[in-house]
This record gives sequence, C-alpha cells and structure tokens, in this order.
Amino acid sequence: MPRVLSGIQPSGDVHLGNLLGALQNWVADQHSHESFHPIVDLHAVTAPQDPGELRAATLRLAQMLMAAGLDPEVCVLFVQSHVGEHTQLAWVLECTTGFGELRRMHQFKDKSADVDFVSAGLFTYPVLQAADILLYDTDVVPVGDDQRQHVELTRDIAQRFNARYGEVLAVPAHRIPPAGARVMDLQEPTRKMSKSAGEAPGTIGLLEGPEAVRRKIRRAVTDSEAEVRFDRDAKPGVSNLLEILGAATGRTPQEVAAAYDRYGPLKNDCAEAVVELLAPIRRRFDELCADPAETQRALAAGAKTAGDVAAATMARVREAMGFLPRG
Ligand code: TYM
Repeated sequence: MPRVLSGIQPSGDVHLGNLLGALQNWVADQHSHESFHPIVDLHAVTAPQDPGELRAATLRLAQMLMAAGLDPEVCVLFVQSHVGEHTQLAWVLECTTGFGELRRMHQFKDKSADVDFVSAGLFTYPVLQAADILLYDTDVVPVGDDQRQHVELTRDIAQRFNARYGEVLAVPAHRIPPAGARVMDLQEPTRKMSKSAGEAPGTIGLLEGPEAVRRKIRRAVTDSEAEVRFDRDAKPGVSNLLEILGAATGRTPQEVAAAYDRYGPLKNDCAEAVVELLAPIRRRFDELCADPAETQRALAAGAKTAGDVAAATMARVREAMGFLPRG
C-alpha cells in the first residue's frame, strides 16, 4: 500500500478549511493507504504557547481527528514530540537545507510579519516538516494549498540528501484536492480561513452548532452582482461558497456553479451541506471526551508504531552520513 503522511498543529481550533482541505481526505485515504498522522506539537511551539493549554489542545485535537473519522485502529495517529527521531532528523536535514531556500518560504514571511519575537524555530519550521515526512518513506502528502511550497521544499531536501549520501530517503509528492484546498474566510474571502480564537464570524469551527453555521454562511460576503460563477479573482466570496459546497459534496466548484443561478439557494444549500457534515463529528467528539483515557491509549499505540518506523529510517541516515556507531 502506498504510504501517506500529513500533520496538523494543535494551535487554535480545527476549522472547516482543515476539514475540507486535509482531514476529510485523510479519512478517505486511510483504508487504501498506510497512513501516518502526527499532531505536530513541536511545530506549535515555534510561537509561545501556554503549557497547560498546549497539553489540553493536543489531546483535544486527537479527539477531534478521531471524531472526524480517523480510526487509530486503521491509521497511525500520534503526537510528534513522542517520537524523538523527528527532531534528530530535522537537525541533519537543516545541514542539507540552504538558508536562502528557507528565506523564500511564503509562510515564514507571513507569520514573521507583525510579531515582536521571531524564533529561529519559526525559520527552520519547514525542515522539521520535511523530517516528519521523510522519516516515514512517505509517498503522498495530502495537504491544503498553503502547504504546497513546504512539500516542494521537502522534495528538494530529499533529493539533495540522496545526491550526497546515496538513495536513503524516499522523495514524496503532494496531493492537493480539486475542491476545498483553499477555503477562505467568510467575511474576508481574499484571506484564507484560519485558526483563530473565539467566535470569528469568518471561520467555522469543527464543533460549531447548526444555528451558528447557518448564520455565518447566510452572512458570508458575496458581491453586488447576481451571477453565480467560479472566478476567484473577480468573485472571491461566491467562489468560496462554491468551493465549500463542492468539497462537502464531492464535486468541483465549477460543477456546483452550473447548478445555481441565484445566491440565496446557493447559500442555503452550502449551509445545509456543512451542517450535515459537522453533525456526526460533534456527536462523536462528545463521546470521546467522556473517556479521554481511550484517546491517550490510542496515541500511545500510535507513537509505538511510528517510533519503530522512524528509528529504522534514522539508523539508515546515521549510517549513510558516517556517524560513528555507539558500539
Ligand atoms: P495546519 O495545522 O495549519 O493545517 C492542517 C491542514 O489543513 C490545511 N488547511 C487548509 N486547507 C484548506 N483551506 C484552508 N483555509 C486551510 N487551512 C489549513 C493545511 O494545508 C494542512 O494540510 N505545517 C503544517 C503541519 C505539518 C505537516 C507536516 C503537514 C507539520 N508537518 C507534514 C503535512 C506533512 C500546518 O501548519 O498545517
């Protein structure tokens, strides 16, 4: 079976963009792929985190991923910091990555703008991500569009490493879904929907109730025309609704556009599709919260399986690079 790996950060609550761009594809893949899904807590600490909140958010994210359909009996769900090889591989890959390459990363430019403290970890963040992927001989990395550049960098790093040290690392490809790869903020549809604290009117949280979902979609910004057409530049608001409805119902945004000629019915159907998608997730989440030990056990088992694979890769890397064995 081909191997899939994709991770998610435990910072802020999971939102509709995470679900449509990434998570729902992971859920679908887990039966046809050997799937690894780290909760990337080491990535989260590139910005300051309250320790108690990070601990709670990590467990809560695991519960959300399971509620959304990731089955820890089928895929490998684990916490990144439980597998020490992630940071070990990240270090040696940092020594195979160019400073200039990291300086070109869009996400670093975005995240380092307007903050008081830019950590060195934020700068080398994509190399840790490359280590996540390369530790598991990953074939495919299913992600939203914002991670495209990071996966391309991962390929470059793997190829450079292999050119220096022999064919040690598998070179992965990204997979970006035809709909849902770029879910935008409902109030500012030129900005991507992102994790944000509190009740943001432009973001739909995974656990949001039907009334809030309907209200937010009804109030989503569109435009003063009346034509339903998929055109991200000229009609970002309408295109976002088409993208959401498409991703929620397994269609392309263009196919959805052909079925509507007014905004009202498009908004209604979009809202109902999202409500239907989220309802079972909320139910299952509540069940999982009743027994946190079950989730903790699943994460421990996941870390064991992941750790075995990671240790084997790291042994290959050490040997290829010429580190003296401990003996
Ligand atoms: P993160 O935690 O920001 O997001 C998790 C996944 O959700 C996708 N996503 C979106 N998709 C569509 N529309 C949106 N508005 C939207 N916002 C987020 C992301 O593309 C991602 O697939 N660096 C990564 C985490 C990571 C990772 C990895 C991913 C660490 N190691 C290894 C893949 C492989 C991140 O911060 O994702």
